[in-house]
Amino acid sequence: MDHLFYLHLFLLFFNLISFSSSSNPKSSIVTLGNYGYPSSSIKEEIIRVANATENVEWLKRIRREIHEYPELGYEEFRTSAVIRRELDRMGIGYRWPVAGTGVVATIGSGSPPFVALRADMDALPIQELVEWEHKSKIDGKMHACGHDAHVTMLLGAAKILQEFRDTLQGTVVLIFQPAEELGSGALRMMEEGALENVEAIFGMHVVHRYGIGTVASRPGEFLAGCGSFKAEIKGKGGHAASPQESIDPVLAASASVVSLQHIVSRETDPLQSQVVSVSSFQAGGAFNVIPDSAVIGGTFRAFNKQKLDLLKQRIQQVITGQATVHRCSATIAFHEEDHPLLPPTVNNERIFGIMHNVATEIVGEKNTHTAPCIMGSEDFAFYMDKIPGSFLLIGTRNERLGSVYPPHSPYFTIDEDALPIGAAIHAAFAHTYLISSTQ
Ligand code: NI
Repeated sequence: MDHLFYLHLFLLFFNLISFSSSSNPKSSIVTLGNYGYPSSSIKEEIIRVANATENVEWLKRIRREIHEYPELGYEEFRTSAVIRRELDRMGIGYRWPVAGTGVVATIGSGSPPFVALRADMDALPIQELVEWEHKSKIDGKMHACGHDAHVTMLLGAAKILQEFRDTLQGTVVLIFQPAEELGSGALRMMEEGALENVEAIFGMHVVHRYGIGTVASRPGEFLAGCGSFKAEIKGKGGHAASPQESIDPVLAASASVVSLQHIVSRETDPLQSQVVSVSSFQAGGAFNVIPDSAVIGGTFRAFNKQKLDLLKQRIQQVITGQATVHRCSATIAFHEEDHPLLPPTVNNERIFGIMHNVATEIVGEKNTHTAPCIMGSEDFAFYMDKIPGSFLLIGTRNERLGSVYPPHSPYFTIDEDALPIGAAIHAAFAHTYLISSTQ
């Protein structure tokens, strides 16, 4: 490891003590933590285990193995097999298959409280353009969103938690879910009982915006909720030289696009961020033919479920209305079977507090940032729609390694030094949560 982990011991008035686990573990530091328990020795141990050279090498091997064989949503068979192979080696029990390729493992007493940690497993239909030894071996598929790292971090946490299983005051549920990119993996995992008995959940995502060794999040509203729509506007085709003999769906679709922009600009509070974007428009194929129909589609986003529902309702009304004005008809689909309406990701204040303290202890206060609200979405929100939870961004930016590209870029890459940090945060969060909720 070429950077240090810092352990910050929270005394009553946030006394700060730091140590380098890689070179000089001060195992004598034992004190009472935020919740009045001797947490620091366990946290030190968690950091020491995560940061051990052998463990870091193992984490990198796992991540690279998954990276070389990216799989799309609900096709993560090989990834799922890697997860089960490693859980078997650690002697951790699990349920499989859940939602096709998902795995739900448990560590600890088997009794309440139950706390869940989640990783997503799927890759993207992108051709990797990063030239490196462990480049994707599958043409047209790539782990361009870091889910290979998420799986690895959760396996890393599994290893740590299994080592300290006798100190767990409850049960940790590890959720390896498929199809985050399709927006339905979390829902299917829940339908198949992944959250059974679980009272709180924690998840992470790697991010290029924050430097290696840092984390970021915020209490309350964090990521937007999101829906998509596709509208077919039907008119009557004909010769473009005689528009009076046609009913022009291109004009009706164009008027719809313009009117849709008025929803956010004229109907919503300027201080409450929302988005309606029309991102596809298909009609006709010849310069002298008015087509029978036009198809438009796009996305809408908001930080509150009611506002999301209202946007959906207004999109329906505006397109139907504009179609009628132009003598056309419209059918609008919100793809909810394939792409369910994603709720906003809202961090529960209490769980955020625990997560924030744990993360701060691991990366240090100066490396723990308050993130802005983000218009991107995450299907982790489905879990947090049902139970309290918190979501953290973990920095992977390193100019020297070129890990500066955004997710879904063919040049996306990460600094693998984030792997032990993520594993330690996962494990320390679960350990701390269980103690806090049994007091
Ligand atoms: Ni992602």
